[in-house]
Amino acid sequence: MIADILVKNASELVTARGAGGNPKTKQDMEDLGIIRNGALAIEGREIVAVGETDEILATVRQARTVIDATGKVVLPGFVDCHTHLVFGGSREDEFIQKIEGRSYLEIMQRNGGIFSTVEKTRQELTSPRTLMNRAQAFLGKMLAFGTTTAEIKTGYGLSTESELGLLKLIAGLQESQPVDIVPTFLGAHAFPKEYENRKTDYIQLVLGMLERVEAEGLAEYCDVFVEVGAFSPSEARTILEQAKKQGLKLKLHAGQFNDIGGAELGAELGATSIDHLDYISERGMEVMVEKKTVGVLLPGVPFHLMTNTYAPARKLIQAGVPIALATDFNPGSCPTLSMQMIIALACRQLKMTPAEAINAATINAAYALDRGDRIGSIEVGKNADIIVLDIPRHQQLPYWFGINLVTKVIKNGVITH
Ligand code: NIG
Ligand code: FE
Repeated sequence: MIADILVKNASELVTARGAGGNPKTKQDMEDLGIIRNGALAIEGREIVAVGETDEILATVRQARTVIDATGKVVLPGFVDCHTHLVFGGSREDEFIQKIEGRSYLEIMQRNGGIFSTVEKTRQELTSPRTLMNRAQAFLGKMLAFGTTTAEIKTGYGLSTESELGLLKLIAGLQESQPVDIVPTFLGAHAFPKEYENRKTDYIQLVLGMLERVEAEGLAEYCDVFVEVGAFSPSEARTILEQAKKQGLKLKLHAGQFNDIGGAELGAELGATSIDHLDYISERGMEVMVEKKTVGVLLPGVPFHLMTNTYAPARKLIQAGVPIALATDFNPGSCPTLSMQMIIALACRQLKMTPAEAINAATINAAYALDRGDRIGSIEVGKNADIIVLDIPRHQQLPYWFGINLVTKVIKNGVITH
């Protein structure tokens, strides 16, 4: 066989395989499917061979490009399954207020927070070139940090025109750079100021937006921010049930600051994932286990907001909730593009082991986007999304932090970095 790309001699080829059609849970989250002195071959956009280097060299005699990964760890590309990547402006002033002790919800109630980003984003959407350029630059950095697939939510428009504008911009991102994008409609991110006292009217507006989203085929998921001061479970239900009828898959922001039953609601409605879960009840966990709902943990958020309440990851894993990790990249609660940083935080603050965190950032994150059959692990037939890290063992990935350890990125069979 002549391959397009051969990667050989990896000190650890971390395949993350073995999910068997479902996201990994409990003990299986410890299993990284490591092949020592591993190799893989790529043809076109696909992985065509995976095994020990000797074994692979016996069948793949030639390759157009050979990558010698001696002394290095090879991983599936990271899947960042929760981001708000398209936004105007930045919120470092708010960050300083947080250092001084003001809370996220307090800042939001004073017209800061999400609302200040909504204002900037709406302004920039009038001629979206700047927003587009910035989003492309963010994605370029993500790729350099090893992320090969990213979910992107709207939610900084909050009017029909601007939410649809954001979705079109996200569609444009898919066409203009290599990272694969999963678009999510988050019109129910907050009640915009102009609807402050007309909440039912805004919900009607969101239902109308959903029709347009469906008609124009602009989103794969619908998400709702279920929180005190945002959407109640019953308001969220109205929106999510409609979204489901229109063929969208579901996600929820739940338990970021308060547990108001979002996990139960999401699991009951068949959501693919429920995200944040810093606050979650025993009942919430049980329903998620029963419905096999992925819990997406976002430890960058309590880190950046300095709240010190992190998701009960050990309890969730023990209960059998499949856990994924993501950045939640956004200007307010988590301005990082690095999944390596999130893995480092997951080990330190969520007490996840390096193996659990790596599975959570790859194969389980792929399941959080309903793509576990195509990405998230290094297996024959899957997309050739591969990263090479300048470390000899995977345990060093969370150990070094704030450093980019990625030296090579292969996206859909193309060496992009
Ligand atoms: O996931 N929780 C709501 N949305 C974002 C934050 C958005 C913002 O502050 O701009 C989050 O944390
Ligand atoms: Fe979020």
